[in-house]
Amino acid sequence: MHSDALGDIAMTVGDSKKHQDTRLIHGGSHPEEFDGAVNPPIYRVSTVVSSDVEEMRHRAKHPPGMMAYGRAGTPTHWALQEAIADLEGYKHCLALPSGLSGILISILGLCESGDHVLVADNVYGPIRLVCCDRLSNWGLEAELFDASLGEDIADLIRPNTKMIIVESPGSLTFDMTDIPAISNVAKEKRILVLADNTWATPLLIDAPALGIDISIHSGTKYIGGHSDVAIGTLCLNDDDLHHKLKWTALLFGYGLSPDDAYLALRGLRTLGVRLQRHEKNALVVAKWLQERSEVDRVMYPALPEDPGHNIWKRDFSGANGLFGFMFNASVKQVAADRFIDALSLFLRGFSWGGYESLAMSTSGESIKRPISGWEPTGPTMRLHVGLENTADLIADLEQALTSMADAVAAE
Ligand SMILES: Cc1ncc(COP(=O)(O)O)c(C=O)c1O
Repeated sequence: MHSDALGDIAMTVGDSKKHQDTRLIHGGSHPEEFDGAVNPPIYRVSTVVSSDVEEMRHRAKHPPGMMAYGRAGTPTHWALQEAIADLEGYKHCLALPSGLSGILISILGLCESGDHVLVADNVYGPIRLVCCDRLSNWGLEAELFDASLGEDIADLIRPNTKMIIVESPGSLTFDMTDIPAISNVAKEKRILVLADNTWATPLLIDAPALGIDISIHSGTKYIGGHSDVAIGTLCLNDDDLHHKLKWTALLFGYGLSPDDAYLALRGLRTLGVRLQRHEKNALVVAKWLQERSEVDRVMYPALPEDPGHNIWKRDFSGANGLFGFMFNASVKQVAADRFIDALSLFLRGFSWGGYESLAMSTSGESIKRPISGWEPTGPTMRLHVGLENTADLIADLEQALTSMADAVAAE
């Protein structure tokens, strides 16, 4: 295994001749180093001891393949990092305790006081919140922009613009961003493009080819895949930036538990087959919802009618089980809440990417788009379509819509 002692892996990008499906299974796997164990053992480590002072000094230099301290990484972390970097086609990967920490570390580790950060107004709500409410505490200025700007982002760039943050499709609204149009402008001006690629997973886009400098995933979602782990990953090519980010993570105390690194790697191995089933199920459910009179629009770029479909087709090789829909204007919020309450297979939950189907109401401030001005016509919902049988899922949605109508009629 090739690694430096901060727990990251400075690997050569994996054997590009092998198909993605194959790399998904074998990336980061080194049974020969673990007495033949096909999965890396969980290294529960804080202290690492040395036989003498010379060895201690050697460890302190962080040579490849040697641990220095548990939080700085273990062979369990290195295996996960190697697998993700290989899949995404980047040179470096850092595994972190959450997706959110990956974005924050990137901003705080790479931007300096006085820098300007452009943030798409459709990114994951807490990132928007942190950027707008907290970055000024560190002397940074965050500016939200309309995610559909494309190359017109050039008009917002200032001499001190350091980073552009995007997410496609956007959180809750599922609107597609033309990332290559933005990254072309950014490259010219030497500005970093950071993308939250959680929806795409490492499988559905070629992030380096889209011009993304830093690719973030909340591995809490599809990478873990079983609703039992919180983890984030950050991938990039630049050696210096990588060095800065791994030190930022270490100095800020962002250590990922080896148990969670193990679970994430175990989940990763089946990501391909799970995603195919999620996409297949989601398309069935989304098309069924499109036909319902209560529904104004399904927000899912894999649907040909979706306004972002052409960008999705150009940049993505598939979809997953997460999409939104909006009721038409005649459905009141209280009725939409009844619909959610009446569901029995779709569980009421905030996360997504696990095996199970989930539903939540997305109406409120977080779905509003302060810059683009986009507003839904009626109450909005997010569904995560899990791995259950689609006829059962549709029956659940149907009975919940009936309950919603009955409750409204009884009022
Ligand atoms: C698109 C997206 N990015 C990031 C996150 C944050 O993930 P984590 O909980 O791993 O920090 C989420 C969580 O829902 C998300 O939906």
